[in-house]
Amino acid sequence: MGRPDSARPRSIGDRVVWPIGLGGARWSLDPDVDEARAVRTIHAALDAGVTLLDTARAYTTVDHHAHNETLIARALAERSDADRVLVVTKGGHVRIDATTWGVDGTPTALRRDCEASLRALGVEAIDLYLLHHPDPTVPVEESVGALHDLQVEGLVTMIGVSNVDLEQLARARRVAPLAAVENQFSPVDQHDRPVVDVCREAGIAYLAYSPLSGRDPAVGSGAPSLPRSRALAREAGLSVPRLLLAWMVHRRGVIPVVGSTRPESAADSAAAASVVLTDDEWSVLDEEIADL
Ligand SMILES: NC(=O)c1ccc[n+]([C@@H]2O[C@H](COP(=O)([O-])OP(=O)(O)OC[C@H]3O[C@@H](n4cnc5c(N)ncnc54)[C@H](OP(=O)(O)O)[C@@H]3O)[C@@H](O)[C@H]2O)c1
Repeated sequence: MGRPDSARPRSIGDRVVWPIGLGGARWSLDPDVDEARAVRTIHAALDAGVTLLDTARAYTTVDHHAHNETLIARALAERSDADRVLVVTKGGHVRIDATTWGVDGTPTALRRDCEASLRALGVEAIDLYLLHHPDPTVPVEESVGALHDLQVEGLVTMIGVSNVDLEQLARARRVAPLAAVENQFSPVDQHDRPVVDVCREAGIAYLAYSPLSGRDPAVGSGAPSLPRSRALAREAGLSVPRLLLAWMVHRRGVIPVVGSTRPESAADSAAAASVVLTDDEWSVLDEEIADL
């Protein structure tokens, strides 16, 4: 169990990534996480094999308009292996003040956001650029068309969408080839399973955000009980988060984007990609998680 050579990389377009990604929202939105800790967390994830970092224009502090992207650029500047990292960022959703975020999916706003992200990341082209949220006042075709224009101009390499339902995804796919969808999906919240299935059939990478439903599922009240999975994790010497992330990778074929803020949890989660279980053990998880 847990052999390091057992992880099967995942494709996003023509790029290959480690099956567990690292998401940065908390480094900018949680006041308890300082920048040095965020950089250490990124480095720990990269050391553990992670090659996908997820950020957004909207992940920022109030006094800094591109806090998260700047942090990622800083962390990558200290690495000689930065070129193997795929950075995902998103536009069309911005922070207005301490408590307000706005959605603007117009082509003008998306171009402005993209140019700001290019500057903050310090790159000539963004690896993967997503529409953060469909704008209810703008047809999704128009927003995705704007992303496609940015791609044709070479400002972004691949495009995708986030927070879409099945109908929005179908409409977006008619405009341009999409490399990825980023939606909320976790063992305790599988309402998006139809989108997961469509992505698998279409060869579109599915990035599962908040894969632990925003917390360590091993602790605290309200955590799913999962007695058999917990026992299995204990016997195998795995953390419960690592086991649940492994289930997502190996049984659902998604790429979890985990929001770690500590080097230790980032490394622990990254190792989920290498978890090996027997068929009977996977069946225990399948049965118990299906009942949540
Ligand atoms: N596209 C969108 O609209 C959207 C929306 C929400 C989120 N996202 C993306 O998804 C990312 C993750 O979302 P999230 O932070 O809400 O959820 P999450 O990954 O479900 O939960 C993060 C929490 O899980 C803990 N954790 C992670 N790995 C662990 C481990 N191995 N052991 C114990 N605890 C562990 C973290 O603890 P520590 O802090 O102690 O490490 C943190 O408290 C975001 O950063 C963002 O990139 C995208």
